[in-house]
Amino acid sequence: MADLRTTYMNLSLKNPVIAASSSLTSSLEGVKKCEDAGAGAVVIKSLFEEQITQDKNRMIGSMNFDAYTDAYDFFNSASADFYLDEYLGLVEDAKDSLDIPVIASVNCVSSGQWIEYAERFENIGADALELNIFVLPSNIGTSGSRIEENYFEILGNVKKNINIPVAVKIGYHFSGMGNFINNISNKGADGIVLFNRFYKIDIDIENLSLKSSPLLSEPGEIYLALQWIALMAGEVSSDFSAATGIHDAEGVIKHLLAGAKSTQLCSTLLKNGVKHIGEIITDLELWMDRKGYSSISDFNGSLSQENSSHPESYERSQFIKSVIGSA
Ligand SMILES: Cc1cc2nc3c(=O)[nH]c(=O)nc-3n(C[C@H](O)[C@H](O)[C@H](O)COP(=O)(O)O)c2cc1C
Repeated sequence: MADLRTTYMNLSLKNPVIAASSSLTSSLEGVKKCEDAGAGAVVIKSLFEEQITQDKNRMIGSMNFDAYTDAYDFFNSASADFYLDEYLGLVEDAKDSLDIPVIASVNCVSSGQWIEYAERFENIGADALELNIFVLPSNIGTSGSRIEENYFEILGNVKKNINIPVAVKIGYHFSGMGNFINNISNKGADGIVLFNRFYKIDIDIENLSLKSSPLLSEPGEIYLALQWIALMAGEVSSDFSAATGIHDAEGVIKHLLAGAKSTQLCSTLLKNGVKHIGEIITDLELWMDRKGYSSISDFNGSLSQENSSHPESYERSQFIKSVIGSA
């Protein structure tokens, strides 16, 4: 059988399928189920920066619910009372009970007081820390470069405080995406998770009111991250973890071919149950056997732009040429 082992941020994973941060990873029972189903690692449900500084009233007042899938979940689930100590307790218990890497996660918007506590994640044994950073760039007075500076400041200050690997999970609202990813990498991100999926608004045309867009992703949402991972893998030293719209082995395989070191799954597990991880892993193994690959490294990144014999086909100019050419 094929060898599914991979390395993500210097962590050894038995396979590249990670249970993403969500309500499925907000309890010891939940993360154990993920491990039992075969996950290569788990990212624990995010702790909010405001929970660390215990300023819940400010959090409720300032939260932009339209943007945060995780905030929606936070206020609608039993995990609503996590604070730092409980959270650290969960990470510690997970470390004691699981054999796979346990990645802690903080949802943050500033490099404020919470960073003083970042080393506690390392002290209780978390294998890595994932920073889920998102500032909705809707303020007409704030420039793109100021927003980017904020990301660099948070990452730089966290890196000063801890020695475990740090991943940054980002959205897609950056005008100079390649440059931004390169800068995040140069500021020390060991991993970059592309992309977080934000909770958006929809409009009910009968009741003339706002309603929520679907909480869970569809497989068709895979392409944005796929393109950016294919473009950036090999360009920067950080490892990429793919997220959003990965619902089956095909999605995992595409991202590995594009150059991701790992993949993060959430919606498909909420839809089909955590056991779906096992089916995906079996399908990945079967595909590798069918293609004659004995290890992930045999094909990982083979279809990234860097390794392509037609690198121009990853760029829009080539797309336009082919559309005009065939018209
Ligand atoms: C109910 C729910 C809760 C989530 N909570 C978090 C969270 O706490 N932290 C985080 O970084 N992402 C959170 N996410 C985002 C997921 O980790 C994932 O990045 C996103 O759903 C896209 O992946 P998918 O297409 O596999 O669902 C949450 C998503 C859902 C649906």
